Amino acid sequence: MKQKIGNMNVLYPMPVTIVGATVDNKVNFINIAHVGIFNAVRNHLISIGLNKVHYTNAGIKQNKTFSVNLLSQKDVVAVDYIGLVSGKKVDKSSVFEHYFGELKTAPIITQAPLSMECRLKDIYDTELHEVFIGEIVATYADDSALNNGKIDIKKVDPLLFDMNSVKYYRLGDVVGDCWSIGKNYKS
Ligand SMILES: Cc1cc2nc3c(=O)[nH]c(=O)nc-3n(C[C@H](O)[C@H](O)[C@H](O)COP(=O)(O)O)c2cc1C
Repeated sequence: MKQKIGNMNVLYPMPVTIVGATVDNKVNFINIAHVGIFNAVRNHLISIGLNKVHYTNAGIKQNKTFSVNLLSQKDVVAVDYIGLVSGKKVDKSSVFEHYFGELKTAPIITQAPLSMECRLKDIYDTELHEVFIGEIVATYADDSALNNGKIDIKKVDPLLFDMNSVKYYRLGDVVGDCWSIGKNYKS
């Protein structure tokens, strides 16, 4: 028996990210869990949903760039801190060592095992949020996240986020191979 539990979004867990931008010539970071994937071929488009009250939004609009960084479970305290304080009041630029890549204004976090530099393509305006749609122009992987040149998600050990329990999680075990295990289906 299933119970109706309202209109909750149950698409969790999902990776939590640290988005970087330059706001008024100063680097700022924001904790963003609500990241979307548009497609997985050719021009990779992703979205990040930012409440309009945040400080970071202005910087993304100023430079038309942002970075999306995945951090490991060992970085959980700094990651959460970034989501607790606003750049309006606190300088968060030194929380993570960073550098700039191709786009010059999207700070790439040095200790992040995986980082993406994005060029702003569009903004979808909702009542409370601005959904920034970005095209990934460059992806950076730390050596420690790679196995023979390929991303090893176990090594990345990404932080996952669950809105309903309001907790961070980590990756579990492999269950099967995609586009493959289904071949064993018998009706
Ligand atoms: C785990 C976690 C996930 C968050 N995800 C989002 C999100 O997806 N969208 C959003 O607008 N704010 C999100 N926030 C809130 C912002 O990170 C937070 O308000 C931040 O301090 C805003 O920073 P800024 O004012 O410097 O831009 C999240 C916070 C935490 C702790």
